[in-house]
Amino acid sequence: MKKIALSHRDGVCDIRCGEPFAALLSRIDPRRTLIVTDTSVQQLYASHFGGLPVVTVGQGEAIKTLETVEILYRAFLDRGVDRSWRVIAVGGGIVCDIAAYAAASWMRGVRCILVPTTLLAMVDAAIGGKNGVNYHRFKNLVGTIRQPEEVLIDPAFLKTLPRREVLCGLAEMFKHGFIADAGYLKELEQAVATGASLDMFIARSVEIKVSVVTQDETETGIRRILNFGHTVGHALERLDPSLAHGEAVAVGMTVAAELSHKRGLITKADADRVRAILSTAGLPVSTDHRAGDIAALLRADKKKRGDSVAFVLLKKIGEAVVVDIPFTELEVTLATVCQHR
Ligand SMILES: NC(=O)c1ccc[n+]([C@@H]2O[C@H](COP(=O)([O-])OP(=O)(O)OC[C@H]3O[C@@H](n4cnc5c(N)ncnc54)[C@H](O)[C@@H]3O)[C@@H](O)[C@H]2O)c1
Ligand SMILES: [Zn+2]
Repeated sequence: MKKIALSHRDGVCDIRCGEPFAALLSRIDPRRTLIVTDTSVQQLYASHFGGLPVVTVGQGEAIKTLETVEILYRAFLDRGVDRSWRVIAVGGGIVCDIAAYAAASWMRGVRCILVPTTLLAMVDAAIGGKNGVNYHRFKNLVGTIRQPEEVLIDPAFLKTLPRREVLCGLAEMFKHGFIADAGYLKELEQAVATGASLDMFIARSVEIKVSVVTQDETETGIRRILNFGHTVGHALERLDPSLAHGEAVAVGMTVAAELSHKRGLITKADADRVRAILSTAGLPVSTDHRAGDIAALLRADKKKRGDSVAFVLLKKIGEAVVVDIPFTELEVTLATVCQHR
């Protein structure tokens, strides 16, 4: 087990990588603990929950709403959950985001432990303290930044994770390599090429995210580099709801690498390498949507400032920088990933 400490303004959040879930159950008070999970995870893992009370939510972005938070509040009320209790979220990023938000807002904050069960949640969603739900058409519009008491990462959960979900997590792990650690990227690339397990790489990704987050807990500066590939990625997710998050981000990272090359920051060979790494792993690097449609959505993006958008580019493989990019320039580069120009 590797313990990674995330220091924050209210204390320290321990991220325990490689600890079995069963070990957590032996450390907590079963009379004052409630598990929140979703229907799939409940079906697969209910027998591991040690008889603790469980609230089960549905699945998919559509349930990441205030209505679902209210279902959790109702369960908290019925069970008498107060500030001496703990909420344990066992699930993917959706369960972690909703349960952490409900716990953060219930009685002005009850303790919350996150047990991510998807690769994406292990390396990304469960790390950094952001929680929340969608509101109307907008993703994560309601939420807070509050670190959980602890995050327990047990890779044994990944045995049942569908391949498409694994690839989504892998896209975020590649992102960590692209923006912060060229050596890690190389190791990850080799692991993918040889079909080796990704389990031993989770801790490094967590360390990278922790290091960025602790430098900028409230997202005013460096934390924005974690959005590498996400500006275009979010627009693609809205254009095409059948696209998984990691898939959309993979296309977005390809655009960002190309733009980094056009801006003279990285070589053509480096931009091609980004594309090759993603596509060799099985992630998409192009889209059927038109550059004009993607750009139109971006103009309505919350990060937009007048005629430009704050965009994360690569200074080199392993280092990122935030640059204002005019929409006109972005649209030209977008065309390079659009099959129908
Ligand atoms: N808070 C943050 O900083 C942050 C960062 C990144 C993403 N997110 C959020 O995370 C969410 C996406 O998370 P996700 O990709 O984990 O999606 P998810 O929670 O929808 O999980 C994906 C699917 O896998 C299933 N599943 C979960 N664990 C499983 C397991 N061990 N075996 C088999 N199936 C399993 C789930 O039931 C679900 O159907 C988005 O809502 C996104 O906004 C939050
Ligand atoms: Zn992401």
